[in-house]
Amino acid sequence: MVEVLEHYNIGQSNFKIVLAVPKLVKKAKPGQFVVLRVSENGERIPMSIADMDREAGTLTVIYQVIGKTTALLATVKPGEYIMDCVGPLGNPSHVDKKGKYMVIGGGIGIAPIHPVAQKARENGNEVYGIIGARTKELIFFEDEMRKACNRLYICTDDGSYGEKGFVSNVLQRLIDEGDKPDFILAIGPVPMMKAVCETTRPYSIPTWVSVNPIMIDGTGMCGACRVSVGGVTKFGCVDGPDFDGHLLDFDLLTSRLRMYIPQEREAMKKFQEEVHTPYVGPKS
Ligand SMILES: Cc1cc2nc3c(=O)[nH]c(=O)nc-3n(C[C@H](O)[C@H](O)[C@H](O)COP(=O)(O)OP(=O)(O)OC[C@H]3O[C@@H](n4cnc5c(N)ncnc54)[C@H](O)[C@@H]3O)c2cc1C
Ligand code: FES
Repeated sequence: MVEVLEHYNIGQSNFKIVLAVPKLVKKAKPGQFVVLRVSENGERIPMSIADMDREAGTLTVIYQVIGKTTALLATVKPGEYIMDCVGPLGNPSHVDKKGKYMVIGGGIGIAPIHPVAQKARENGNEVYGIIGARTKELIFFEDEMRKACNRLYICTDDGSYGEKGFVSNVLQRLIDEGDKPDFILAIGPVPMMKAVCETTRPYSIPTWVSVNPIMIDGTGMCGACRVSVGGVTKFGCVDGPDFDGHLLDFDLLTSRLRMYIPQEREAMKKFQEEVHTPYVGPKS
């Protein structure tokens, strides 16, 4: 059982949860993920590491309520326990010295780029970040990202905060101004990661993305998370989650993510019919 130390809403359906997992955070590295189970018979949901404090033994996850299990997670109060938190899983991100190291986070993808930016800067890179979301309310970690990056650019689709437009528009502007990164790690919704890769392809800027295929065990046993990279089948959980975005088959990733939509809708409908008290606690 894992104790929930903090848990609160950070805008619309996004939540921040802090878990007491001292052994796990001792080993965890930026770019890795964990698999959570809320209850004994519950689904296993992969979540990226958004922050960790090795001294306090805590791990932070930022998640969006999107279906049954994330809705169930949102009912857990600080001081209560979830079933388990397995990890760290997957490979750490490439944070060695590249020079101008750009991190791009879209929506909930802002969370996993945060520890990567911290580590890349610690390793001597000039780190610049672009974070974007649909609207102002969905931008989070602004202060944390300002600390982690040498420079930070913010944009929203509706122009309610920062520049108006997509993260790929900001990236194109910087390239046009001669500010070309040596390496990019982009994390966010699949169309966003694809747009970033198409922006950088003509300039041959190495661009890696973190994939989010459906995962079950997270340890290479089930094959659910398979993706195609340069025509070769890879497993998101053990070969990734980061891959060269110029080689990734984004269309296959999208279609595989949609495979269980009818079942997911049915599970959410049943969950909503039951009596649950969503925990939308204040920031404590
Ligand atoms: C490596 C990795 C890291 C992730 N990190 C985060 C994170 O930091 N924050 C966050 O909000 N989300 C993250 N996700 C996505 C998250 O796991 C799903 O949103 C969650 O599993 C949805 O479960 P559900 O029951 O609430 O929704 P469901 O109704 O079951 O599914 C809704 C949608 O979520 C996706 N999904 C469903 N089950 C899984 C699964 N087992 N694995 C992956 N995707 C699934 C599918 O696209 C599906 O259509 C990550 C996924 C991966 C693979
Ligand atoms: S989640 Fe089962 S092989 Fe990757």
